[in-house]
Amino acid sequence: MRSSSVVTSASALLVSLLASPAAAQLHTECNPLEKECKPNPALATAHTFNFNSTPPDGVFKTEAGTVDYTSDNGAAFTIPKKGYSPTIKSNFYFFWGKTEVIMKPATGRGIVSSIVWSSDVLDEVDWEFLGGNATVAETNYFGKGRQDFHNAIYHPVAGGVFDDFHNYTTVWTKEKLDWYIDGQHVRTLLPKEANNTDNYPQTPMMLSLGIWAGGDPDQPKGTIEWAQGETDYNDGPFTMYVKSCRVEDFSKGKEYVYGDRSGSFESIKIVE
Ligand SMILES: *[C@@H]1O[C@H](CO)[C@@H](O)[C@H](O)[C@H]1NC(C)=O
Ligand SMILES: *[C@@H]1O[C@H](CO)[C@@H](O)[C@H](O)[C@H]1NC(C)=O
Ligand SMILES: *[C@@H]1O[C@H](CO)[C@@H](O)[C@H](O)[C@H]1NC(C)=O
Repeated sequence: MRSSSVVTSASALLVSLLASPAAAQLHTECNPLEKECKPNPALATAHTFNFNSTPPDGVFKTEAGTVDYTSDNGAAFTIPKKGYSPTIKSNFYFFWGKTEVIMKPATGRGIVSSIVWSSDVLDEVDWEFLGGNATVAETNYFGKGRQDFHNAIYHPVAGGVFDDFHNYTTVWTKEKLDWYIDGQHVRTLLPKEANNTDNYPQTPMMLSLGIWAGGDPDQPKGTIEWAQGETDYNDGPFTMYVKSCRVEDFSKGKEYVYGDRSGSFESIKIVE
């Protein structure tokens, strides 16, 4: 069965992974641009996680809070008060692939619901939803952790972001990245458009789903502005729901290994 193979490969590395309390984006345990790091365990298949029940042990790690798995709305990620940013992050990686996330972001000024792919070298591919803005979803990407605030694009969501669950899909190959909302194509990124390929996300990715307060008064001013306002925790609790998520790894190895410190896809070895 598919699910048991996922459990085996992911639980193998679980022991060494610790939850980091300030789990934000742009954080890595070990950066292969700087030194040799552990191999990335591969998902190597396609799998649908239905969050009406707790995912199998070891497939995801939960950081900075708790996640409730409910029969009606799936995984509930709640910020009950300041200091919480519950997030699940996969212990598996995919190297080129596709994710389909059926979710309903949280409302609340400054609250950010997100679907984040991130790699050990801090390549990143995102969906972000601002809890004060019912009309748009944001897509974004980063290459090698380089902060570039021109990468984000806002897309209208038919029916509104908070009215219902929507299907936020991303498809990633060596040739391009495509984002879809409910089957409608909204964005393409070509490698040459991303700093002439150098900032194109191209290394094995983990998947994170989570919520945080970009509008927390202690965040930098620029972050609060981007989050479209300061969070008032009296308006909480704030909850984002994820019904299901399908992840497909387009590669079929046991693990992925960085062959050098370039962070380029050509350097990634697929270990059979
Ligand atoms: C939602 O965000 C978009 C993109 O930044 C912006 O144009 C729009 O005015 C925002 N809407 C609200 C209600 O804040
Ligand atoms: C989500 O959208 C993608 C892209 O259009 C589609 O391939 C997929 O079947 C949809 N998934 C679900 C669960 O509706
Ligand atoms: C673009 O890539 C080069 C390396 O090829 C790097 O030095 C530079 O900082 C990158 N620029 C941006 C805006 O990320």
